[in-house]
Amino acid sequence: MTLFDLSGKTAIITGASRGIGEAIARRFAQHGANVVVSSRKADACDEVTNSINEEYPGKALTVPCNISEKEQLQNLVDKTREHFGQIDVLVCNAALNPYFGPAMDCPDEAFDKIMSANVKSNHWLANMVLPEMLERENGSIIIVSSIGGLKGSPVIGTYCISKAADFQLVRNLAVEHGSKNVRANAIAPGLIKTYFAKALWDNPDILEQSTSTTPLKRIGLPDEIAGAAVFLASDAGAFMTGQQMVIDGGQTIS
Ligand SMILES: NC(=O)c1ccc[n+]([C@@H]2O[C@H](COP(=O)([O-])OP(=O)(O)OC[C@H]3O[C@@H](n4cnc5c(N)ncnc54)[C@H](OP(=O)(O)O)[C@@H]3O)[C@@H](O)[C@H]2O)c1
Repeated sequence: MTLFDLSGKTAIITGASRGIGEAIARRFAQHGANVVVSSRKADACDEVTNSINEEYPGKALTVPCNISEKEQLQNLVDKTREHFGQIDVLVCNAALNPYFGPAMDCPDEAFDKIMSANVKSNHWLANMVLPEMLERENGSIIIVSSIGGLKGSPVIGTYCISKAADFQLVRNLAVEHGSKNVRANAIAPGLIKTYFAKALWDNPDILEQSTSTTPLKRIGLPDEIAGAAVFLASDAGAFMTGQQMVIDGGQTIS
């Protein structure tokens, strides 16, 4: 039993079929949690779920869910309760960015899609799990935001607005539910080597631009985000709420 122990806890992790979400699911299971591996594609989730269950039998369950669909979010919550009994930790990790370019050319449809999936879905999902957390006076909500939410951008501006809104979402949740010991925090990764950010690390020139001004002189790996999620989900993070944890190799301070 350590400060970081998650035994007896159940966590939902959206976007857990690969990248940062997969790394969080694997580390949560390693620390004793039951994990619900969720993304749109059941097959991709099953690969992660099966591999976790091989190492930690019975700890992982696949529940497919498109975060843009409210009914699917409710199904995710219902199936988790049916299988594991309760939800102690929610990790809103999945997000999307269908538009790259100047904000003045961003189609309304893309703007709405980004805000809906990256902000409103997190608001919905939090509200779906909150009642039982409030009743037990224990719960941790974690939103994977981005350092994009701390800076202006000429090309992913709408995505950055959505990630800034996620910082405010956790502050609101923290203030509203802190008296019932329900905590909410955001993690703000810098550039991480995942499919989502491939365009930013696949091209050596673009990669050099971002790493040259980063103190650690490299981009991050998904597993380097997972430890912060374990911290926030566990007793180690018991006095932390409403905050944004920047994990970016020092990019934002240089
Ligand atoms: N990588 C970076 O540099 C970076 C930096 C800062 C912040 N972030 C944030 O980190 C989070 C995870 O990104 P990642 O880099 O780990 O990306 P990734 O490796 O591409 O993984 C994205 C995950 O989300 C799922 N997903 C995509 N759209 C979805 C939807 N509509 N509903 C449900 N699941 C969906 C994907 O699976 P399916 O395709 O099966 O749905 C996949 O499991 C995002 O919130 C992102 O904004 C990433």
